[in-house]
Amino acid sequence: MAEHRVASLSKIPEGKAWPITVDDYDIMLVRFGDMVYAIEDCCSHQEFPLSQGEIDSQQCTVRCRAHGATFDLRTGKAMKAPAFAPVPVYNVRVEGDDVFVEIED
Ligand code: FES
Repeated sequence: MAEHRVASLSKIPEGKAWPITVDDYDIMLVRFGDMVYAIEDCCSHQEFPLSQGEIDSQQCTVRCRAHGATFDLRTGKAMKAPAFAPVPVYNVRVEGDDVFVEIED
């Protein structure tokens, strides 16, 4: 595992999808205050980018725009059909204004 600095916390808009690419990984960051979640930017149903979906800050979920599958941003768990498989999530560390994501080497 390697930690990558991926963003400045102050640049990530509150409660919106923020797609990034680190190495070959497409990842979506979502910020709620000082908390940042990182989830693969690819729906497990038919590989649509989750960063084009809707974020629900109350439920801490993203809803895929393609067919409505919903995933927990904290765990990647599929919460609503038609997706059943989870989406990978990544450990995030925030230090000051620096946001780091841990990715496999
Ligand atoms: S591709 Fe996401 S719900 Fe179908």
